[in-house]
Amino acid sequence: MKIAVYGAGYVGLVTAACLAKMGHDVISADINPERIALLLQGECPIYEAMLPALLIEQCELGRLSFTTNLQDTIHDAQIHMIATGTPCLANGQADLSQVFAVAQCIAENIKQDGFVVIKSTVPVGTGDRIENIFSEIFNARKERFEVAVVSNPEFLREGNAVHDFLYADRIILGGEPDALLCLEQIYQPLTAEGIPVIKMQRRSAELTKYAANAMLASRISFMNQISWISTKVDADIEEVRKGLSADKRIGPAFLHAGIGYGGSCFPKDIQALMHTSKALDIDVTLLEAIDHINMRQKNWVAEQLMTHFKGALKDKRIGILGLAFKPGTDDMREASSLVVIERLLEMGSELFLYDPVAIPAAKTMFTEKSEKMSWCASIDEVLTHRLDALVIATEWPEFKNYPLALIRQSLEDAPLIDGRNCFDLEAVKAAKLSSYYSVGRIPLREVI
Ligand code: UDX
Repeated sequence: MKIAVYGAGYVGLVTAACLAKMGHDVISADINPERIALLLQGECPIYEAMLPALLIEQCELGRLSFTTNLQDTIHDAQIHMIATGTPCLANGQADLSQVFAVAQCIAENIKQDGFVVIKSTVPVGTGDRIENIFSEIFNARKERFEVAVVSNPEFLREGNAVHDFLYADRIILGGEPDALLCLEQIYQPLTAEGIPVIKMQRRSAELTKYAANAMLASRISFMNQISWISTKVDADIEEVRKGLSADKRIGPAFLHAGIGYGGSCFPKDIQALMHTSKALDIDVTLLEAIDHINMRQKNWVAEQLMTHFKGALKDKRIGILGLAFKPGTDDMREASSLVVIERLLEMGSELFLYDPVAIPAAKTMFTEKSEKMSWCASIDEVLTHRLDALVIATEWPEFKNYPLALIRQSLEDAPLIDGRNCFDLEAVKAAKLSSYYSVGRIPLREVI
């Protein structure tokens, strides 16, 4: 069966490339001609480990192709995977216009029976709405095909997406049992390796996706809440985390305190889940708390600097290491660094910024404020600017591995504000940093 994947964004491209890797005949379709032109030239439009080589490999093997021609794609395929974006509207609701536009286009052009597989993160009940679109358009066309609508949410982390697809913890399929039996075959190369398929009702599958992201976000906000207590009572959140992680009921994942979560999923999915809950008159206290703690935590860096400099941040020269919302990506969406930068610019600081890959993406977000911002090509360059303070906003390995002795030498008496707890406190003491602030651990000051 031929598989069409609509949307060549990060979910769509990873899905298309991995399905091809599994031996399927896949076409990736997108309405953006520049994006498809890049892909046809063998270039990958997004920063994602392993993806560029996989795209080239699968194109060369003839299993993967790209197109802007939706009509021909729809005619040829039996499996239609929708992987378009569902951004957040101002009221928190997920914007489903791209998903519905693709569904409508499929319904208008389809010429044979098939499956519609929803990969995009969509609110519960979206599958039903897509079924209605098909029904209405088939009525207008006065012809009808058997089209089963299935939910197959993705759980791909940016930076690890290819790995997360091919070595998934589980594959969730939601829909009518007969349709799921057929779709299960697509994933046979993965299930043969022991990856379980969990079949369920379509609405349950749609909700599972939101619940997974909300659960992970809640763990992060919970640890950030505990970090506030930890600092006040002179405990160490990293020790607390290790103690919690060893409990098999809790496990180690997503327990790192820091300056909050960002990215294209957690913030928007929490908003969308709140929106859905409110519309159903369901109490949203927990979801609101997750979001509130996260927003508050993004101000942590500015608060430490305000305390250290007693509010006088005007003209302070501050280095910022890390801009992307997490390591391994150039994605700046909802990055905590954006809040750090905004707050420090508001207070008149001068910023020297470095990120291994996200500077081009970051530059596009600050075109009007650039006179107070200097973009640097390396950590070393940031450190040459006689800084009044250095901030770590993303825990890239090259920051964690940078010798603390060199940081100490450049900073002299200036503080290091570590928003991602990159360093061990003993190592910081040994390097004799003048002041070191980290999340959920008491500040080390004048250790010398
Ligand atoms: C997430 C989900 O993990 C993935 O399954 C879903 O499909 C898309 O959303 P992603 O947005 O790529 O993936 O990022 P993830 O690795 O989950 O991290 C999200 C945010 O949480 C980052 O800002 C990260 O810095 C933060 N985080 C993560 C913490 O602050 N502490 C942790 O312990 C883990």
